[in-house]
Amino acid sequence: MQNTMIVTVTTRKGGAGKSTVTMQLAGALAARGAAVLVVDGDPQASAVQWAAAADEKPFPVPVVNLAAAGSRIDREILEQAAHFEYTLVDCPPASDSPVSRSALWVSNLALVPVNSSPLDLWGAVGIRDVIEDVQAVNEKLHARVVINQCQENTTLAREVIEALEGFGIPAFTTRIGHRTVYRQSAVFGGTVHDFGNRASQAIS
Ligand SMILES: Nc1ncnc2c1ncn2[C@@H]1O[C@H](COP(=O)(O)OP(=O)(O)OP(=O)(O)O)[C@@H](O)[C@H]1O
Ligand SMILES: [Mg+2]
Repeated sequence: MQNTMIVTVTTRKGGAGKSTVTMQLAGALAARGAAVLVVDGDPQASAVQWAAAADEKPFPVPVVNLAAAGSRIDREILEQAAHFEYTLVDCPPASDSPVSRSALWVSNLALVPVNSSPLDLWGAVGIRDVIEDVQAVNEKLHARVVINQCQENTTLAREVIEALEGFGIPAFTTRIGHRTVYRQSAVFGGTVHDFGNRASQAIS
C-alpha cells in the first residue's frame, strides 16, 4: 500500500502508557475506517493480551507479535506494513532496546508517552537521544511527546508541560487525562471508542 504510515510508540519508562496509547490510537484510526495493524514489539506482549481479552466483539484491528524479531523487526514491520495504511508499534520499556531502535529506522512518527511526573520526563531522555540518532539517518522520522494521565490544572501538570518546552521533542497540545475507562477497555479487549465518551475524544 502506498503512503503507509509507521508509528512507533516508545519510551524507557515502564508504565508510561505505550501500550495504552498504541491500542487506543488503533481504535481511533479504525473507527475512522483506516486499515490499521498493531505490532507488538514487547516480550511482555501486552498488546497481544489486550486483543486476546476480546470476547464477543473482536479487537478492531489485527495485532501481531514480532517481539522475537529483535533488531530485525524493521524488515518484518516493512513487510507487514505494506498491507495497511497505519502500522503502530508498541515497544518494550527500554531506550537501548534493539526493537525500539530498529522500529524507528522505518518509522514516520515516534510517539513518546510521558505521564505528568518528573520521573517520566527523566525516563524519556534516553529515547529522545535514540530518536535524534535515528533522525540523522531516517529523515522522514518525526517525533511527538504524548502527555498521558494528565491531571489538568494541577501545579505538577503545569510544571511538566513547562519542562517539556526545553525537552527537544514537541508535545501534542491535546493531552490524555487519567481516566478509568482507558484501563477498563483493556479488560474486554476493546478501546475507549466502545464507550463513546470524552475519553475517546482525547484520543481522536
Ligand atoms: N490515561 C490513562 N488513564 C488511566 N490509566 C491509564 C492511562 N494510561 C495508562 N493507564 C494504565 O497505566 C498502566 C500502564 O499503562 P501501559 O501498560 O499502557 O504502559 P506501558 O508504557 O505500555 O507499560 P510497559 O512499560 O510495562 O509496557 C496500565 O495499568 C494502564 O491501564
Ligand atoms: Mg506496554
